[in-house]
Amino acid sequence: MITESFKKHFGATPEVVVRAPGRVNLIGEHTDYNDGFVLPAAIDRYVTFAGRRRADRRVRAHSLDFQDSVEFSLDDNQKDTEHRWSNYLRGVSKFLEEDGHPLPGADIVFGGDVPREAGLSSSAAVEVGAATFWMRLLGLQLEPVYMVKLARRAENEFVGVPCGIMDQFISALGRNDHALFLDCRDLTYRHVPLRNDVKVVICNTGVKRALAQSEYELRLKQCRKAVAQIAGKGLAVRSLRDVSPEALLASRDVLDDLLFRRARHVVTENQRVLDAVKVLESGDIERFGELMNASHDSLRDDYEVSSKELDVLVEIARRQPGVLGARMTGAGFGGCTVNLVRQGAAEAFAEAIKKGYKEALGLKAEVYVSKASDGALAGRMS
Ligand code: GLA
Repeated sequence: MITESFKKHFGATPEVVVRAPGRVNLIGEHTDYNDGFVLPAAIDRYVTFAGRRRADRRVRAHSLDFQDSVEFSLDDNQKDTEHRWSNYLRGVSKFLEEDGHPLPGADIVFGGDVPREAGLSSSAAVEVGAATFWMRLLGLQLEPVYMVKLARRAENEFVGVPCGIMDQFISALGRNDHALFLDCRDLTYRHVPLRNDVKVVICNTGVKRALAQSEYELRLKQCRKAVAQIAGKGLAVRSLRDVSPEALLASRDVLDDLLFRRARHVVTENQRVLDAVKVLESGDIERFGELMNASHDSLRDDYEVSSKELDVLVEIARRQPGVLGARMTGAGFGGCTVNLVRQGAAEAFAEAIKKGYKEALGLKAEVYVSKASDGALAGRMS
């Protein structure tokens, strides 16, 4: 299908076709930018890139999702305020060149089925897809973790959206039927097998993530402030990752109620991820579900990044048979929930969610039974 689109636009067959998946985070929310732990999985929805090399330094790109085209020179690669969808590709291209990997011009078509602005990391998929595209086109052997950092840099510094490293990491390094346990401080990771008798079901509120960026920036600042105040007590902490539950309690006098609750979310969420990995590895899927539930409650009450729609979806989910756990996933303020559901119950669950959400809020929920999938660089790990 992408090959056909490429032919239609550029009248030739592409030299390279690559794809990068979106992601769902099972647990470990708003911990990545606090040097903490996360446990996401790549999903079976992708952004696919098809392209060929040009003899000059021009990039002609067509977005299937936006039905829009752009053309620019790599010698004048600026942020584009008109075709904003192109900035992920531009940013990745710019930073690869800045890092000493000269690029040729290219004709590119890209697009896919990762829902946009739904908290499933479609932008990370575009960044990782773009980086993988250039790597394959040029036959570059680049370290996967370098690629991940470059993709994140494009989002932070070129597009100008703050984010941690989780989304780009999992889009690049996810593995079939596995979640990925990542330490966001030293970037060590391990794949953890998911059982095939439970399904990861994603429910989309259909509500775009309003406020997400400004509230996200605010949470970042609040976490930094909490760290500074805790460190002011003479404790050796660089980030909330270093704060134990005991140290947090001992710091209660220097934090106001809001900062205390923000910090408590991060501190307890990090512990939940460590516990979740342990119980997933030991097969205690019921306990895993409880940890997901606790994560949501903490995001709703302490971190305050949930929304009415997310809470309603979670409440309906928890009432359904075969549901082990339900929580919001991603940055919050809209987007999706992630649910762990026993295999035989998944279909009835999907129907019950759609019906219940319609009754409660008059809105339409989309439900995807997802499958943990390979990242764009899977199989190429060094
Ligand atoms: C967004 C960011 C991630 C992470 C999550 C919250 O998806 O891109 O880096 O911070 O929010 O866990």
